[in-house]
Amino acid sequence: MTRTAYLNGEFLPLDEARIPVMDRGFLFADGIYEVAAVLGGKLVDNAAHLARLDRSLSEIGIRNPHSAQEWERLETELATRNGLTEGLVYIQVTRGVAERDFSFPKEDVAPTVMMFTQAKSIVANPLAEIGAKAITVPDLRWKRRDIKSVALLAQVIAKQQAAEAGAAEAFMVEDGVVTEGSSSSVFIVTKAGAIVTRPLSHALLPGITRAAVLALAAETGLAFEERLINARELTEAAEAFYTSASAFVMPVVEIDGHTLGDGRPGPVARRLRELYFAFAEGRRG
Ligand code: PDD
Repeated sequence: MTRTAYLNGEFLPLDEARIPVMDRGFLFADGIYEVAAVLGGKLVDNAAHLARLDRSLSEIGIRNPHSAQEWERLETELATRNGLTEGLVYIQVTRGVAERDFSFPKEDVAPTVMMFTQAKSIVANPLAEIGAKAITVPDLRWKRRDIKSVALLAQVIAKQQAAEAGAAEAFMVEDGVVTEGSSSSVFIVTKAGAIVTRPLSHALLPGITRAAVLALAAETGLAFEERLINARELTEAAEAFYTSASAFVMPVVEIDGHTLGDGRPGPVARRLRELYFAFAEGRRG
């Protein structure tokens, strides 16, 4: 089936979607993106994703071209046109096409709006059954990682290092503490049983799945703490897992070659994965 994209008001075959070379997204990575999951044909936690999109755009002074209602209508239409029952909807908004100049264009330039979908088995993901391997890498990024910028070179390099090490994710470390995964939020479960994740700040993306998982932990009476995680704690942890729209809750069984626990997905990660499925399917939350 031909994949359909959305570009500046039009649904068209993905391989016919073209962006001018003077687009500031292409020249300067001057843009924002968002990724939301689709499960059973329905967008998961989408209001939160659209609120983050709005915030990211406003932080870099790009006008949001659509209301949340309009975005959701376009995403749903795109998912339907692609016959997407399970997978991801990708949105990208750039500052638009203009003469190359670092400062913002003086004239009123329309933002470039582009969307596509990716089919993916998120629930029946065999990696979640055996657990993922992760490595640690230095965090090479800028200082406003709370903005979901399309400038992802540091994450591309981190993920490539993970792939070359036979790992699924790279946990980025700065000043001896974990910031987040290359495309996920990082959690550990201490031997004392506490779920720990880093508090929000400019240093990391406010993960939508992270927020939902913390809310589910609170509802279920699981103890959690938001505090910095020392990189040394990773290998001493009882469990680790990472969360994202594309992985939901992914148990980690090995970090930098050290096996966690008995080398199988831990009970807390498995429980939270189940709770998140129920939430994502609208069975609760
Ligand atoms: N990435 N941290 C970073 C750096 C991320 O890129 C992501 C998501 C997350 C998790 O956020 P959320 O739970 O809202 O998906 C944390 C997406 C999935 C991506 O780039 O494909």
